[in-house]
Amino acid sequence: MKNLFTNPPRLPLVAPSILSADFMHMGDECRHALEAGADLFHFDVMDGHFVPNLTMGPDLCRCLRAEIPAAFIDVHLMVTDPAKFVDPFLAAGANHLTFHVEVMPADAARRLAERVRAQGATVGLAINPPTPVEAALDLVPDFDLILVMSVNPGFSGQRFMPEVLDKTRRIQPMLKPTQRLEMDGGVGPRTVEEVRRAGCDVIVAASAVFGVPRPQRASVIRTLRGEE
Ligand code: DX5
Ligand code: ZN
Repeated sequence: MKNLFTNPPRLPLVAPSILSADFMHMGDECRHALEAGADLFHFDVMDGHFVPNLTMGPDLCRCLRAEIPAAFIDVHLMVTDPAKFVDPFLAAGANHLTFHVEVMPADAARRLAERVRAQGATVGLAINPPTPVEAALDLVPDFDLILVMSVNPGFSGQRFMPEVLDKTRRIQPMLKPTQRLEMDGGVGPRTVEEVRRAGCDVIVAASAVFGVPRPQRASVIRTLRGEE
């Protein structure tokens, strides 16, 4: 499959996070989100250690891949030891893996990024709200995507933190046309415009998409992309 993140044109991509989907009806929820215009799925992985919550693992990723073979799966590893999960998620059909700058030194992050790329996936680096942008700047050229968190990770449905937009404004001018800037946390119809204006072109939304009734989701997705 061609990689959605490194292939221009650079339209804003809308990435519903399945964390707020109905877990008892995950296949239907995902199929419906694609019909409603989703570009890809954001897949939040939490280990109960890096963040105070537990979510999903490689088995659900494998099921999603089998259920929707054409899906692009963007795995967000909110875990203390991402190296442990790279191979299981790639074997389970993930297209992209993002891990956090907070969990390892820069040289180890570069090596892990190379390991992901060597297996044909793209790789992202995420930065939490309290972490200074300087922690990520030197690493920007080594990643396909930078994910700026706009909530403290762990749960969907939290309030957007506008102060993190200063980070995206710093990072955006450093990016090549093949790199992407993703924002995750509290993004919805009311906050998305400033997110796009600050240079983000991958828009993650859990509660804004899956927290509204299905008939409204296509319109929310168009709004997130800036089409209405
Ligand atoms: C938060 C996760 C997010 C979350 C976003 O820790 O990384 O992807 O699902 O949820 P909303 O869009 O509801 O803030
Ligand atoms: Zn996420």
